[in-house]
Amino acid sequence: MLGVCYYPEHWPEKMWAKDAKEMRELGLRYVRIGEFAWSRIEFSESVYTFDWLDRAIDTLANEGLEVIMCTPTATPPKWLIDKYPDILPVDINTGTTRGFGSRRHYDFSSKNYFREAMRISEVLVKRYGEHPAICGWQTDNEIACHDTTHSGSLASRKAFQEWCKNRYKTIDKLNTDWGTVFWSMEYQGFEQIELPILAVTETHPAHQLAYRRFSSDQVIKFHNKMIEIIRQYAPNRFVTHNFIPMVDTQTDNYALAENLDFVSYDNYPLGRSDLFFANKPAEEFKPYMRTGHPDFASYDFDQSRGISKNNFWIMEQQPGPVNWAHHNPRPEKGMVRLWSWQAFAHGADCVCYFRWRQAPFAQEQMHAGVKRNDNSKAAAWAEIEQMRDELKTVNFSIDAPVQASVAIISGTTNQWVSEIERQGDSYNHQQTEFSYYCALRQLGLAVDFISADSDFNQYDLIVAPCLPIVDDAFIAKCQQTKAHIVFGPRSGGKTEELSLAPNLPPGKLQALLPIKVLSTETIRPDCSEELSYKDNTFESRCWREELEISNDIIVDAYYHDQSPAIVRYGNTSYVATLTCDELLIEFFDHLANELDITTIRLPKDMRIVHRGNLAYIFNYAGHAQTFPAKNIGSYLLGQATMAPYDVAIIKLNH
Ligand code: GAL
Repeated sequence: MLGVCYYPEHWPEKMWAKDAKEMRELGLRYVRIGEFAWSRIEFSESVYTFDWLDRAIDTLANEGLEVIMCTPTATPPKWLIDKYPDILPVDINTGTTRGFGSRRHYDFSSKNYFREAMRISEVLVKRYGEHPAICGWQTDNEIACHDTTHSGSLASRKAFQEWCKNRYKTIDKLNTDWGTVFWSMEYQGFEQIELPILAVTETHPAHQLAYRRFSSDQVIKFHNKMIEIIRQYAPNRFVTHNFIPMVDTQTDNYALAENLDFVSYDNYPLGRSDLFFANKPAEEFKPYMRTGHPDFASYDFDQSRGISKNNFWIMEQQPGPVNWAHHNPRPEKGMVRLWSWQAFAHGADCVCYFRWRQAPFAQEQMHAGVKRNDNSKAAAWAEIEQMRDELKTVNFSIDAPVQASVAIISGTTNQWVSEIERQGDSYNHQQTEFSYYCALRQLGLAVDFISADSDFNQYDLIVAPCLPIVDDAFIAKCQQTKAHIVFGPRSGGKTEELSLAPNLPPGKLQALLPIKVLSTETIRPDCSEELSYKDNTFESRCWREELEISNDIIVDAYYHDQSPAIVRYGNTSYVATLTCDELLIEFFDHLANELDITTIRLPKDMRIVHRGNLAYIFNYAGHAQTFPAKNIGSYLLGQATMAPYDVAIIKLNH
C-alpha cells in the first residue's frame, strides 16, 4: 500500500542493496523506476544498455519489492533530438521552438517522435513485460505537463487540417459551423487553415475550441498507442499513468484514462496550492501555507477516482518542500501522514512518495526526499513509519468504495469554453468548480466527479458548476433522473461549436426549466453586491445573469434589486451568479435537507469522508478541535479531540 519513486541511475550501484533493504523496512512495497532513464538505456541509436537496469530490478526484487516500470518518453535524449529536430514543440505564445535541456520537449504531432516513442516503449516492454518483479507499468510521465498539449509547429498545423477535414467533411460546413464570415475569415480549402495562435488580437472561439479538441485527441492517440504496446507484451500487468491536476492537462481526462487500469495522481498540495491560491490575500492563505487548503488535495483525489470510476494511486506524494512553486514552504509536522491517510480515505489503494533520496545535482536538488542527499533520514521518514504501523492497525479493505450521494459534473470542454470566452477576468473555471466542491465538503458530503454522459442513478444531488455545452442525450437523462440537479451560471448557453444558443441561454436546458438569460454582466471581484437568500444577506459577485422567468418558477434567491438570482423548477435549480462560500453552504444544506441527505456542520478546517464502513476525519487546523458527532462508532485511530494536523478513523456502527 506504500511505495516510493527511485532513480538507481542517480546513485552508485553499491548503494542500491542498502536502499532496497531500507525501503522494505520502511514498509514500502512498490518502487517506481525508469521514467527519465532513456539516455542510460539507449545512449546512442539502437545501442542498448540494460545490464544496469537488470541489476537494479534484481536488487529491489531481492528485498521482495515490486517494481513499476515506466516508459521513458518524457525525456527524449539529445542524439534523438539532433537527428529529428522536428520533435521539439513550438511555443504557441511566441512561435519559437522550445528547446532541449529540461523535459517533455516533444510535439504530439511529430510523426518522428510518435514512431520513436513507440519504438523505445516496445523495446523496453519486450524485455521486461513478463519480468516477475514488475507488477505494472506507468506510461510516460505527467503527460501534458509544462503546457505541452499544444504546439504551434508545422506538423501540428498539418495534422489539425486533417482533423478538421475528418470532423467537418466540407469546407463550407466548417465555415458555417464556425461562422468565419465574421472578420472575413472564410476558408476556401482545408489546406488554408491556420492554427489559432500568434494573431493580432483574439482568434475565433470556434477555431480555438476545435484546436483544443484536436490537441487533446493527439495526446490521447499517442497515449493509447503506448498502452496498446504495453498490453501486447506485458500480460497481466497493470497499466497506469501519473496525472497532474485535471485542469492542467488541457486534455479530455476521461478519454485519457479510458484504457488504463486505474489512474494515478501526483500529489503536491503545497506546491500546487501556492500556484492555485496565488491571488488570495495573505490572511486567507497563511493558515494553509504548510498544509494546503483542507479541500485542495481531496479535490484532486476525487477527480482521480472519477475519471476512471475506480480507485486510484498516488504515484508521487510530496515529502517535504518542493523546488518549483513561487514559494516552497515545508509541510507542517504530521502533514505527510495526513495527506497519505486522506488519499486512502478518498479511494487510493497505494501511496508512493517522491522521491527516495534528495538528488545532490540538477534541477531538483532543492526538492526534499524521504532521505537527504547525505543519506540521513529526512522529516517524512518518521511519518511514513507511522503510516506503515497504522495501516496494519486499521487494516481497511481496498474494495471498500467511497460512499457519495452527490456528484459534480466536470469535463474539459466546459473548462475550454470558459477559458476561451472568459468574458471577465474574474471568471475562473477551476475556482468556480472548487467553490462548489468546498461548500459540499464543508457539509461533510462525499463527492464523486462524473462526466456528463455518466449514469446519474446512484445520486440524489448532482451539481454542474459550469456546463456551457449540453446535448440532447444529456437533457433526456436529466428528464429521467430523480436526482436534483443544480446548474451554475453560463450552463447551456453555447452550441457544440461555441456559438450562442439560438433560443438564448440556458439553451437546451430550457427543456428542464423555462427561463431565459436576457443579458450577462461581469463585475470586478471587489465590487460585490447583495443577494438575499432565506432572509439572509450574502454576496453576488463577478458574474451576474439577468433572468426572465415564467410564473411557475420558484425564486430561491434575489439580487439586491429584487430580480431573480437562484431559481428552481421541479428538480432543477439554476444559480445565475457567482456567489460567496457562505451562500453555497447554506444553499446546499437546505437542499440536502429536502433531499434527505445527511449533512454535518464540522468545525472549520475539519473534514470527514466515508469509505466502506469507516469514517476518516482530518484536522487541518493548527489547534486541537473536537469532532462533534457522538456514538457513531468506535475509534480505530485517534479520538474525538484531535491534535493539530491529526487523523481519526472511526469504525461506524452502521
Ligand atoms: C512531478 C514530476 C516529478 C518531479 C516532481 C517534483 O511533477 O512528475 O518528476 O519533477 O514533480 O516535485
